[in-house]
Amino acid sequence: MKMIPEPLFPKDFLFGGSSSAFQAEGAYDEHGRGRSVIDMLLRNEKLADYKVAVDHYHRFEEDIKLMHEAGLRAYRFSMSWSRILPEGNGEINMAGIEFYDKVINLLLKYKIEPVVTIYHFDYPQGLVDQYQGWLSRQSIEDYVHYASVLFKHFGDRVKYWLTINEQDHVIHLPERLGIKREMTDKEIDKIATQASYHMCVATAKAIKLCHEMVENGKIGPAMNPMIGIPASMKPEDVQAAIDYNEIASYYLLDMHCKGIFSPIYKKYLLDRGIFPQIEEADLEEMRTHPPDFIGVNYYMAKTIEHSSETEIKHRGKGVIKQEEAGIYKIVSNPHIPVSEWGWEICAPGLKMVIMEIFNRYNLPVLITENGLGALDELTEDKQIDDEYRIRYLSDHLKQLKECIDMGYPVIGYCLWSFMDLISGHDGMGKRYGLVYINRSNSDLMDLARIKKKSYHWYANVIATNGAEL
Ligand code: BG6
Repeated sequence: MKMIPEPLFPKDFLFGGSSSAFQAEGAYDEHGRGRSVIDMLLRNEKLADYKVAVDHYHRFEEDIKLMHEAGLRAYRFSMSWSRILPEGNGEINMAGIEFYDKVINLLLKYKIEPVVTIYHFDYPQGLVDQYQGWLSRQSIEDYVHYASVLFKHFGDRVKYWLTINEQDHVIHLPERLGIKREMTDKEIDKIATQASYHMCVATAKAIKLCHEMVENGKIGPAMNPMIGIPASMKPEDVQAAIDYNEIASYYLLDMHCKGIFSPIYKKYLLDRGIFPQIEEADLEEMRTHPPDFIGVNYYMAKTIEHSSETEIKHRGKGVIKQEEAGIYKIVSNPHIPVSEWGWEICAPGLKMVIMEIFNRYNLPVLITENGLGALDELTEDKQIDDEYRIRYLSDHLKQLKECIDMGYPVIGYCLWSFMDLISGHDGMGKRYGLVYINRSNSDLMDLARIKKKSYHWYANVIATNGAEL
């Protein structure tokens, strides 16, 4: 009997890894870098801060060489806005340009495609001081100016661009917008929707500019959909999951790709008195300049039940709203395992997201983040046996492969993260990398790079073009 060979990934499939500037670079006050809102965060003293991070600024050559050895075809990283424009606008810091020039040139030498995120959480503090940053319409012009500086200096070599990382996440964390005063939940929501609207306009303008300035440039947002799965077969739970997906995820893609406030999102904003100030011409600009692809950061699913509450007393823990009065609430799911941090690990959710994005927007997807945070342990003989991470990545890659085999367009897979980074909320206590960085929260140690078991596994996945997952 003839064996049907396992389908492989396309030959030009971008197997890669991801990072972000503030979580990797360090060198927070070197060579003219200005302050970002992240530098101004009060850190719990038990957690690592971002001053040194994993010292990528000084060790990028070693790090990129490790990427090359693993056979990476793409590296997604962000540029630090305040390293390039220390005040967020105004004078360019040429030392910042030179640093990223070196990074890009080395990647290209090794045939690793640079995928650049223009802004990944580290908004310049200068713009907050000048006019409250994203809360002001002025933020649009400054973002677009910053993007134009990047396109001008790097557009000859960088062809894949990401506009804003996880807009929906950042708008709900006032301190990441640089706003530190005490606020009620309603005030936070109002600020969030106005900031989000400005980001949508800025995104459309940056897309337009990228197409004008970068030959063959491709650009899109990096979204963070946490797919909502109905908690039961009850029609009201199924509807609640649909509503959750609209309000928590697709509302934003409807803005970016279609230039519309979807009906349910509009009603949601009006009911709560948080509809932003808009200009009609902005929506037209979004319609005329949709993204070329959608970046997807996928980590988890959420299980959704109908909520019959008429009023919610409190937003709930963290940035994800646990409940929306009269619409949905997030519940646990006996069929889905959770990580140590309570994240619902659901590989099939990745397939659901890819299919839904294609069906709704007819656009390809680039996976810009996917990975497992864990407290890896270095053994005495300097090994990290992270079999759990291999399982997680393998399960997700299998879903991706099924999408590709069916014909859904997927450009690449940049896992989070190539090397350990400072986790947003858990410092060095939660590692995602394929490469271990020898430092703890309180001790920089020697910052040595040590390949984990998952590093070797991923190298083989790439070498076999996905035949051995
Ligand atoms: C994404 C961010 O939300 O999730 C990354 O883009 C972040 O910056 C990653 O590190 C994982 O989250 P955390 O909080 O576990 O580091």
